Amino acid sequence: MKGKARAHSNIALIKYWGKSDEELNLPTSGSLSLTLDALYTDTYVSFEDNLNDDVFYLNNVLQNNTRVSRFIDIFRKLSGINKFALVKSTNNFPTASGLASSASGFAALAGALNVATGLNLGKKELSSIARRGSGSAARSIYGGFVEWITKGKESYGKMLDDANWDIGMIIVVLSQKEKAISSREGMKISKSTSPFYSKWVETSKSDLKNIKEAILKRDFEVMGDITERNSFLMHAIMISSNPVLLYWEPDTLNVIQMVKELRKDGIMCYLTIDAGANVNILCRLSQANLIKSHLCKTFNEESIIISKPGSGIKTLNISKDELYG
Ligand code: PMV
Repeated sequence: MKGKARAHSNIALIKYWGKSDEELNLPTSGSLSLTLDALYTDTYVSFEDNLNDDVFYLNNVLQNNTRVSRFIDIFRKLSGINKFALVKSTNNFPTASGLASSASGFAALAGALNVATGLNLGKKELSSIARRGSGSAARSIYGGFVEWITKGKESYGKMLDDANWDIGMIIVVLSQKEKAISSREGMKISKSTSPFYSKWVETSKSDLKNIKEAILKRDFEVMGDITERNSFLMHAIMISSNPVLLYWEPDTLNVIQMVKELRKDGIMCYLTIDAGANVNILCRLSQANLIKSHLCKTFNEESIIISKPGSGIKTLNISKDELYG
């Protein structure tokens, strides 16, 4: 009745921006991400006899989150357990830092619930369920480069490559603010109002096909070029939505400029931006410190996080406190 798991966050190189089925969280197009070693969530779950509702703590602060309860319902239904759960999640990065935590959060919760319910589902099934919490969580079940595949109603992540070849990501944290419009809401707006939305779906499909080829050939520059274009295209869709979804801040443009300058100097690195102001830079891990030192001329060292590729979810041992406390 107890379980604990760790899942790492991921950054999409080919973005997910739109659902074909709101209820099942099915995407309008496939996506592909890199799992990050530096950012992760640890989640402990325990089904209890004496609770009248699910109780969820994030970084030791009690939350009021119906999404978590609805997610636990999926496992209750599958396992036949009808108790409420105590959930304790901790992110190893500041929650209010504007860094996406829903991917690692729901993947870790799925992993912990898998143990606590004794269901022992395989990774593919777990990924398919994690998707229901947050689409990008489907990808955080696996390490390295992960594709989110959809075939009819089946939709799950799959590792394409372990990314064990001089690949790194630099996260430039620019905003501490929570985004005004969530991804869930933003996608809905874009799909129904951007005049270019169908073009986005079409282009994403070819970008996905091409980046997979580039990754398997280990062609870093082609891979980076597709990554950067796909992110800009997603932001073009956001900006052409009604209401306009502009997630950038002035410093976002500064980092975009810096990445271009680095490339002019022969340091090949490429940017990708999610639904927020932060900029993620795909680079050679061997050049990450060099790139960081350039960024540090303008930004605080603490706001620049270097990450190597991360691994998939893993089960953690339950501490004595958790067992008896
Ligand atoms: O998984 P969600 O619902 O938080 O959506 C993620 C959306 C993006 O981060 C913008 C793109 C992606 O594929 O991760």
